[in-house]
Amino acid sequence: MAPYFSLLKTILMLMCFWQLASPFTVIMSDSGAPSTLVEGPQNGFSMNKYGARTEAREQEAVYDIMRATGNDWATDIPDVCRGRWHGIECMPDKDNIYHIVGLSFGALSDDTAFPTCDPVRSYISQSITKLPYLRTLFFYRCFSYNPQPIPAFLGQLGPTLQTLVLRENGHVGPIPSELGNLTHLRVLDLHKNNLNSSIPVSLGWITGLRSLDLSGNKLTGTIPGLTFPVLNVLDLSKNLLTGAMPSSLGTCHSLIKIDFSHNRLTGQIPNSIDGLTQLILMDLSFNRLLGPLPISLKSLTTIN
Ligand SMILES: *[C@@H]1O[C@H](CO)[C@@H](O)[C@H](O)[C@H]1NC(C)=O
Ligand SMILES: *[C@@H]1O[C@H](CO)[C@@H](O)[C@H](O)[C@H]1NC(C)=O
Repeated sequence: MAPYFSLLKTILMLMCFWQLASPFTVIMSDSGAPSTLVEGPQNGFSMNKYGARTEAREQEAVYDIMRATGNDWATDIPDVCRGRWHGIECMPDKDNIYHIVGLSFGALSDDTAFPTCDPVRSYISQSITKLPYLRTLFFYRCFSYNPQPIPAFLGQLGPTLQTLVLRENGHVGPIPSELGNLTHLRVLDLHKNNLNSSIPVSLGWITGLRSLDLSGNKLTGTIPGLTFPVLNVLDLSKNLLTGAMPSSLGTCHSLIKIDFSHNRLTGQIPNSIDGLTQLILMDLSFNRLLGPLPISLKSLTTIN
């Protein structure tokens, strides 16, 4: 009889890889924006740079978003890309009109001073959909005392959004299937909320995904078929997922880290993961999976 893996920790840590060991990494966007933007380091602009200004409609949207998080002070700033704060990123087009490409909220650490959210009354303003150049949206510990679902309108940011981080925000309800419309995403991080749906199949449309972290929620159902050719990190740990590990995992050839620990997965570990030659860490502990481990992974363990 094949042994049960339920209590046996099957962590294959083959080398020390600090980026994966650190709590998380924000991968900043670097391409894929509308071609009208002028790429390069942006240090803001000053009064004497003649004609430079923030696009008026986007500026109004930023005021709405700032008000919705309790940051009313921002509405006193006459030009948000000129009077920029840590947490707003702007880029010019060829006519020197500045566009909002990044918005970040939440006290991540002592040295990142993103605007904090008023935890009892903050919400995500729908005016976010009026930012047609937005690449990065980051909310950390923003809505903890005002639990709310992830708004489906975020799906409308599909043409540009590359990084969506909604981490430890106390979000309730489902992962909206509309997030599958964010087909340019590289990073989707919904870690540690109270999301209680199944994993929408539509996430499979995001074929350029590098990092998918849905850990620390109450997600149910089975893990859908996965075909992410450039996915490096897949963390579905600490949920209520059931069923078998999908054999399609073997098509995600770029995987470096898989963490499915602390779920209710059953069945065999699929042989297809033999093909995951980049794999450095796989944690399947605290499930009800059946061995044996595929041959190639066994040989990796001996290298260790
Ligand atoms: C997003 O996807 C859903 C289906 O998941 C679709 O009904 C909707 O029209 C799409 N568009 C937007 C902008 O959300
Ligand atoms: C998920 O949570 C929401 C809000 O907390 C609740 O209303 C809903 O019934 C839950 N759904 C499931 C499938 O458990």
